[in-house]
Amino acid sequence: MGRNQKAPKIESKFMKFFADTAEIDEIAALAETGMVDGVTTNPSLILKSGRDILEVTREICALVDGPVSAEVVSLVADDMIAEGRKLAKIAENIAIKVPLTWDGLKACKVLTGEGNMVNVTLCFSANQALLAAKAGATFISPFVGRLDDINLDGIDLIADIRTIYDNYDFETQILAASARTVNHISDCALVGADIVTAPPAVLRKLAAHPLTDKGLATFMEDWKKTGQKIL
Ligand code: E4P
Repeated sequence: MGRNQKAPKIESKFMKFFADTAEIDEIAALAETGMVDGVTTNPSLILKSGRDILEVTREICALVDGPVSAEVVSLVADDMIAEGRKLAKIAENIAIKVPLTWDGLKACKVLTGEGNMVNVTLCFSANQALLAAKAGATFISPFVGRLDDINLDGIDLIADIRTIYDNYDFETQILAASARTVNHISDCALVGADIVTAPPAVLRKLAAHPLTDKGLATFMEDWKKTGQKIL
């Protein structure tokens, strides 16, 4: 299905926004807007933050009510499961992030079976998304931007996964990741992604439009001329 075709209806009433960062100050500022429904982190974002993974994740979980993805770093299922269990103890809103490998899928099945939210990450194909849903993933994270980086169409992948999940009533939520532009976000909404995660700088740009700024400047000038006050 192309991005201009009508997306099938999804259960959630609106597409959710997750902040893709481990920077506490940025998350706190976004949380104040009431527009952030969750947070995603990964080992690169933890490195960038310069913080201890357990400490910073605990602080993030206290700032937002929604799911906070924290990623395991082992490559073997049993070790992923042990790491996932430890991460899950941080807070009730932890989503354990596992990579889309056979070991990751095995860990996903076990961890979801124990009642945890699991986010299967590094998804680049519809078949991978199919496997993640079959493994009971709470979230599948297809990386839109990284596909665009190699001249493939990340939004087409989101649309394909939407169709496949709807064909079989899979409840796994499509968490479009690696969104780098505001157009990625609106395109994801057009094809029915359940959630988009994007860096705070991209989320902040969502409200910006030069005609809004221009129109507001005119209204303010004219209002001053009236000499009136509301308060
Ligand atoms: C989120 O879950 C991903 O780790 C993140 O969106 C990757 O984004 P990037 O491709 O810009 O690094």
